[in-house]
Amino acid sequence: MCSSSNGSYARCAVKIRYIIITALKLGLTRAALPEEIAAWDANIRTNGAGLPAGSGDPVSGEEISADKCASCHGDFAEGVDNWPVLAGGFGMLADKDPVKTVGSYWPYLSTVWRSAKPIGR
Ligand code: HEC
Repeated sequence: MCSSSNGSYARCAVKIRYIIITALKLGLTRAALPEEIAAWDANIRTNGAGLPAGSGDPVSGEEISADKCASCHGDFAEGVDNWPVLAGGFGMLADKDPVKTVGSYWPYLSTVWRSAKPIGR
């Protein structure tokens, strides 16, 4: 729906604005709670500034991925059914429908951290 490759960002923004205004008019929305804003307000810099405290390693990361990510993204980040693939896509950025992944598109790992908020977490 919203893709820079076919210039649909502007149309998408208009649709989203329409949906928000309609929801406001119908009283279907409310102000976000401070904790809801805080959960999405990630200002992570390319040098890693802003990341929460913590650490990890590949072995524990594999376990976490198997437990929390693989049901959608697959054991090897290949994507399950229609869930997003997180690996591959090399050399595809000029394609009509490129596969954008950590290796093919995102230039900084901090971008991945922002994107990787698991649904339901
Ligand atoms: C319930 C299914 C589900 C689970 C579980 C899940 N994801 Fe996702 N993930 C998605 C969906 C759907 C998107 C696309 C969201 C969007 O486009 O806004 C996504 C997007 C991403 C992206 C961004 C990909 C891109 O190219 O934009 C990353 C990185 C990611 N997930 C990593 C993770 C990690 C790491 C975990 C586990 C800690 C995880 N996801 C768990 C469904 C899931």
